[in-house]
Amino acid sequence: HGTSRINEKGHLEIGGVDTVSLTETYGTPLYVYDVALIRERARGFKQAFERANVKAQVAYASKAFSSIAMFQLVEEEGLSLDVVSGGELFTAIAAGFPASRIHFHGNNKSREELKMALDAGVGCIVVDNFYEISLLSELTQNSSSSVPVLLRVTPGVEAHTHDYITTGQEDSKFGFGLLNGQIEKAISMVQSQSAIELLGFHCHIGSQIFDTAGFILAAEKIFEKLREWKEELQYVPSVVNLGGGFGIRYTEEDEPLAPQAYVEKIVEAVKNQVSLLGMEMPEIWIEPGRSLVGDAGTTLYSAGSQKDVPDIRRYISVDGGMSDNIRPALYQAKYEAVLANRMREAHTEIVSIAGKCCESGDMLIWDVPLPQVEAGDIVAMFCTGAYGYSMANNYNRIPRPPVVFVENGESQLVIKRETYQDLIGLDLPISSKILHR
Ligand code: LLP
Repeated sequence: HGTSRINEKGHLEIGGVDTVSLTETYGTPLYVYDVALIRERARGFKQAFERANVKAQVAYASKAFSSIAMFQLVEEEGLSLDVVSGGELFTAIAAGFPASRIHFHGNNKSREELKMALDAGVGCIVVDNFYEISLLSELTQNSSSSVPVLLRVTPGVEAHTHDYITTGQEDSKFGFGLLNGQIEKAISMVQSQSAIELLGFHCHIGSQIFDTAGFILAAEKIFEKLREWKEELQYVPSVVNLGGGFGIRYTEEDEPLAPQAYVEKIVEAVKNQVSLLGMEMPEIWIEPGRSLVGDAGTTLYSAGSQKDVPDIRRYISVDGGMSDNIRPALYQAKYEAVLANRMREAHTEIVSIAGKCCESGDMLIWDVPLPQVEAGDIVAMFCTGAYGYSMANNYNRIPRPPVVFVENGESQLVIKRETYQDLIGLDLPISSKILHR
């Protein structure tokens, strides 16, 4: 998929670059991003709204993968940016991302984080709870301008990837209850603040969702309320944000829609509601994370030791694991892999790919067909672009791998490999107060 192909040496090539030569230059493990594919996905979402002639913002949910280079790419493609912490916001500012296109999320933004967002002049704060309203009103007390906000609601629709459950009052840590009076209270609190401008509402129903029924259900529930508010509170929103969560294909079992298809269905549902309820069409905002970067990322590992459990399985250990991709250990997430240096060879055995962390749960893939693996082979694991690097950690004091962007035959290092020195960089030795020698 994307720009991946097999080159004349029988190696995996991405973005016109031989992945085996990438490992020679940058070492392993290594995250490689197919920039053209990220651009294609971004344009897919944007153009679908343009075709539907609907005002929209597509905000990249940067928790999926955030770095200065990524943010520069997102800016160039004209998307907005969803950040959820001071750290993501700081990175966006450092990347020169236009503040007016930054949306600030989170269920427990601190006073300092909110101040940072206000000082930067972010385009929108997605307000999650009453405490946040009081912090904002305190921070904007002497402000001459007003801060645009969305109120996050829990629409009572929860997606469990394949199906949806509708709970009367959703049990979630995020947002204001839509059906229990909380949201009406939040609306009037916000409306009483002259320095807070209520743009509209936000909801997010889950992640790695394959069909559109849940988005449509959530939109219906919100619009149902919008009609009430129009009549009772004389309030008509200018923005409805339906969150992210569009699925991608990790393995053959996954059957996601194309980005455009999600947008088309969402727009259709909103248009239906709007005409049914006799309202003005609001702007529609979405927040894809995984579907923008997930399948654009590939992790390259070197195969090392092997262990045979006779008649049961062969374990092939690689030089990374749950420290660079915690998703298999945390969510039993499934992936596919190939040998990047031997792409044309027949898959003659079924092996399991183990990480190098001291934990038996550190398995990257169970039962994957590959050629007879030898130490030094390059194992390429696909679709690691979302929640891979961003959830990477230093368990066992393993340094984080570097990130390389590839496009049109060029590669560029965009995050350096962490060094052992980096790992001890924050450590301080204890003094004689505690160590008595
Ligand atoms: N908007 C909000 C408010 C969110 O909470 C999320 C994801 C997104 C957008 C983006 O969702 P996406 O399009 O990426 O599905 N670590 C997990 C995923 C956690 C998602 C959390 N929120 C994983 O690795 O599967």
